[in-house]
Amino acid sequence: MKNIEFDYSQAADFVSENEIDAILPEAAAARKVLTERTGEGNTFLGWLDLPDMPEELIADIEKTAEKIRSEADVLIVIGIGGSYLGAKAAVSALRGAYANELALLGGKKPAIYFSGCDMSSDHLASLLEVIREKKVFINVISKSGTTTEPAISLRILCDAVKAAAGEDARNRIIATTDAKKGALKTLADKEGWKTFIVPDNVGGRFSVLTPVGLLPIASAGLCIRKMIEGAKAAKENAANDNLRENTACMYAAVRNILYRKGKKAEILANFEQGLHYRGEWWKQLYGESEGKEGKGIYPDSLDFSTDLHSMGQYIQEGERMLMETFIDVEEPRNRIEIPHWTENLDGLGYLEGKTLGYVNRTALKGTSEAHRDGGVPNMKFTVPEMNEFYLGYIFYMFEYACGVSGYMLGVNPFNQPGVEAYKKNMFRLLGKPSAK
Ligand code: PA5
Repeated sequence: MKNIEFDYSQAADFVSENEIDAILPEAAAARKVLTERTGEGNTFLGWLDLPDMPEELIADIEKTAEKIRSEADVLIVIGIGGSYLGAKAAVSALRGAYANELALLGGKKPAIYFSGCDMSSDHLASLLEVIREKKVFINVISKSGTTTEPAISLRILCDAVKAAAGEDARNRIIATTDAKKGALKTLADKEGWKTFIVPDNVGGRFSVLTPVGLLPIASAGLCIRKMIEGAKAAKENAANDNLRENTACMYAAVRNILYRKGKKAEILANFEQGLHYRGEWWKQLYGESEGKEGKGIYPDSLDFSTDLHSMGQYIQEGERMLMETFIDVEEPRNRIEIPHWTENLDGLGYLEGKTLGYVNRTALKGTSEAHRDGGVPNMKFTVPEMNEFYLGYIFYMFEYACGVSGYMLGVNPFNQPGVEAYKKNMFRLLGKPSAK
């Protein structure tokens, strides 16, 4: 398998080779803190070793997923933040945009929906409508077991499954949570639900390669072994002490140079609609890990070419505080040719016989050059194709780069104290007994 390539040539006007030589020792020092586990947050570094997963755990996840695939019309994954974004990123990237519609029309089951990631009653009501008369399984994921959004969603959806399935509901609900403590663990044990463990030493946004991500991903019919292989390949690359060849460290180094030069926000841009949630996952990873103590690159993600028609103007000519990172997929999973039309009224004759993938990648090249010329330095990851292996590779590579980058910024990348502030106010306003 080819490695994912990192190219920063379109940032060359902003980042010199001398500057890279000067920052690489800092990246090396941050990496040492990470791998020797001597920095702040070092009790949450279990994800570094995750690709070396016990065979029994992989087999248990596969067996449970197989049961879901053979029995369920619908799987509802309940979770928020790090407890759902990795799975949603992988499922959306590889399952096809309309997999749920096809599943409900009699195609490959199950349809997979995500819930508990907001508090919209309209969203939940729509889901309840979709699942009426369907055989529904639930995978509820919460490390703490007390997060408000998934807990509310679980109450409602659990009642719906119990109303439909009676006693059999206990065989249709799987909880992924702490090994020993927490409300969800207690509930799961009381109800007799199967449970999977979120390791103590892995934070939510780094948990995609645990059962948190792997059970829903396997339930979508994707090969988690290949994903783990990809993560192992990224781990191997991250172990390279020659940082010029170490993709994660080079990315961390270049983005930090740009940040110090005033490029305070980074856009992760994809040209594949299926990668939208990959961008959402990345945004959480970097936003929660780096945004603290008044520091941090502001992460945003966009879907091109769609968003070039909405945000393209700002990127090209707005405030010059942006850097950009492209995900370039060499081979789309489907080949579509532009057909011949005798009349050339739309002027597309010159593209006849070319593939849509070719046009799309050409748009990426054109965008990258235009944005560079407009003062937006950009980097690019070239991914040979979008499959389980490269998804696993990207997950691990971005996590590793995030650890290195966070330590380079001088923050603890593994906590998230700021997310408590809104909860404190909300609980007080709602009259939660312990909040008074
Ligand atoms: O990355 C994180 O730690 C958070 O996004 C959590 O995953 C999120 O808040 C959900 O927490 P929990 O799994 O405890 O319900």
